Amino acid sequence: SGAQSRRSSSPRSSSFLFPIKVTKLAVLRETAAGETRVSATPETVKKFIALGATVAVEAGAGAGASIADADYAAAGAAVGKAAEVLKGADIVLGVQGPDPKALKGVATGAWIVAGLDPFGQRTRVDAYAAAGVEALAMEFMPRITRAQSMDILSSQSNLSGYKAVIEAASAYGRAFPMMMTAAGTVSAARAFIMGVGVAGLQAIATARRLGAQVSATDVRSATKEQIESLGAKAIFVEAVKGIEGEGAGGYATEMSDEYKAAQAELISSHIAKQDIVITTALIPGRAAPRLITDAQIATMKPGSVIFDLAVAQGGNVEGSKPDEIVVKHGVKIVGYSNTPAHLAADTSALFSRNLYNFLSAFWDKDAGKPVLPDDDEITAAIRLTKDGKVVNDRLLA
Ligand code: NAI
Repeated sequence: SGAQSRRSSSPRSSSFLFPIKVTKLAVLRETAAGETRVSATPETVKKFIALGATVAVEAGAGAGASIADADYAAAGAAVGKAAEVLKGADIVLGVQGPDPKALKGVATGAWIVAGLDPFGQRTRVDAYAAAGVEALAMEFMPRITRAQSMDILSSQSNLSGYKAVIEAASAYGRAFPMMMTAAGTVSAARAFIMGVGVAGLQAIATARRLGAQVSATDVRSATKEQIESLGAKAIFVEAVKGIEGEGAGGYATEMSDEYKAAQAELISSHIAKQDIVITTALIPGRAAPRLITDAQIATMKPGSVIFDLAVAQGGNVEGSKPDEIVVKHGVKIVGYSNTPAHLAADTSALFSRNLYNFLSAFWDKDAGKPVLPDDDEITAAIRLTKDGKVVNDRLLA
């Protein structure tokens, strides 16, 4: 029994008895239009190698995030063509999901670990199942303390909230801070943040740092205190049924008609006085809620700027178009189809760490690879396909 316990506790003796295949990770160059991020950095490559894995990176994968092939090679990665990178790969990392047809040569049952847009790309999920790979959707990571460091939605939204304010400030023909100069005073911009999740909180902080007078609103009443603690003014509907606005996992729910009417009235009078509006409202699995109508835009001052962070999910703002500056009633409406791709060096660094934190948390030293227990809350949430079938509750519901 002594030998038995030594065998199970020592990785060296178990690999001697049962030689194990070294886990190979593949990092592909993203192919989606406008995607500049990359799913591993030289830092995470080194960390994966320290776990005992090998890492192959497609040439040019880091270019959009200002990472040279030589930096991956120096970190220990094999840099090559897609076919070599994928050959025998056990885990394919991605920012977005790779084309299922491009996955030729990967190991049987290989994992795809990426942001897979499961609702938007349902046919691709079916193709992953048909290809026999195990697709793991990182955006389905549950919002539990243990998974915070693996949460791509948070890491990317945070920087998106920052970038939205910077872009709005750039499109604005005036300054944010109050300035007293010899030639006279420049007044502070008024900025209003709608939706105070991860992106909205960072937008508040950024607009405050730039010197704007900031106010914010959300349907979840819990955000009121968070808004005030950042030094902004909370604009809230009071005394209407269903004000809690919080559903499963701390996400927003669809609101009652009574609430929506009260909110529209309050917001209308407030918006007319704003110079900058940043909208961030999302409801998981549904189109983004409409927060600002054309009639409301018409009440704003010419030269005001609205940044619609939800433009790719259908938009919070009437008339917003991805990657275009739309001018309505003299108001500029801005929004990107992929905001994190506009600061790819930082978003890639955080995204890559999210993937590493996830895989290393489940790394089984004896097996030489990550192992996802079927009964783990994280497994159940993120696993989309396994053994040829779609297995995720949210997709099957
Ligand atoms: P999100 O990106 O899904 O939505 C953005 C914000 O829009 C949310 O605050 C939502 O309440 C708000 N919103 C939705 N409909 C609205 C409407 N009609 N009017 C105004 N606002 C509206 O949210 P995000 O950033 O993903 O955060 C959701 C929650 O999850 C937050 O409570 C956040 O603190 C929490 N969270 C928890 C984590 C953890 O514990 N691991 C990690 C990240 C977030």
